[in-house]
Amino acid sequence: MNPLEKQNQSAASDAALLEVRNLDKRFGAHQILAGVSFTVRRGSIFAVLGPSGAGKSVLLKCIANIETPDAGTILFDGTPLDFRHRVSRLAFRRRCGFLFQGNALFDSLTALQNTALPLEQTTSLSRREINRRAMEALEQLELHEHAGQYPAMLSGGMQKRLALARAIVTQPEMVFFDEPTAGLDPLRRNAVFGMIAKYQALFGFTALIVTHDIDEALAVSNTVAMLYHREICFCGTPAEFGASRHPVVDSFRDSARTLRKSVALLRQGGDISMENEAVDEDLKEQL
Ligand SMILES: Nc1ncnc2c1ncn2[C@@H]1O[C@H](COP(=O)(O)OP(=O)(O)OP(=O)(O)O)[C@@H](O)[C@H]1O
Ligand SMILES: [Mg+2]
Repeated sequence: MNPLEKQNQSAASDAALLEVRNLDKRFGAHQILAGVSFTVRRGSIFAVLGPSGAGKSVLLKCIANIETPDAGTILFDGTPLDFRHRVSRLAFRRRCGFLFQGNALFDSLTALQNTALPLEQTTSLSRREINRRAMEALEQLELHEHAGQYPAMLSGGMQKRLALARAIVTQPEMVFFDEPTAGLDPLRRNAVFGMIAKYQALFGFTALIVTHDIDEALAVSNTVAMLYHREICFCGTPAEFGASRHPVVDSFRDSARTLRKSVALLRQGGDISMENEAVDEDLKEQL
């Protein structure tokens, strides 16, 4: 048994850390999530895949209390989250780190100040210790030489790494990553996934990663879920994902084939959309 299989097996035997049950979310008449349910086991890496606009970020925002679900329950460590109470809100914030898709950095704060923020908000450490830890996180993301710079002075990839440093600075039990590698070059993209896998091995932390990097997600995760048309249409191990005959999984796994189909269609005088409509129509026929 290789180390990843061992890790998968031990993670699978651990208790649930996050349970999402029957989550519904709509904006006006637009139903985004309907009956979304899944469980993330303590110490595991859970990847969420799905087409653009499927509701992956909305799902994360519901968990982070940025959006309010219309129905459903979210349990963390066996306790339903109730964000109406400041104490449970703060306790959750202390135990979890978030990296949002748009980074959510504060323009008026330096890289060091942005990174230090979660420590200021959730601990009573001295200023010196907060700065030391923030600097350490920046070093891990190769940003220590930019500690005094403001987000606008950093490249897109550097801003992403800064958001990553802030998400892990408190060494949280669970980290939620929304597209942690978007805009990063291939080497840094691998480094981010490598870092997530390393942290899991070192601290046994739990991660939920929303990503479009299928190969990397399959390499590091214990469980892969696919969000499609408001619900989780597949949830299983990377091996099960690889073997699944579900048409949505199949189309994601074999995106090169999908591209070839779209290009062939274009060359025959057809049209291909910028988003997922062409693929969607194809899938709807198969489902
Ligand atoms: N605050 C909002 N008000 C109205 N509609 C919203 C809001 N936030 C998200 N949506 C809609 O919800 C849907 C899902 O958006 P979401 O950002 O979760 O997609 P996603 O799966 O994260 O896509 P991507 O892979 O491109 O990041 C989209 O149709 C989006 O327009
Ligand atoms: Mg998103």
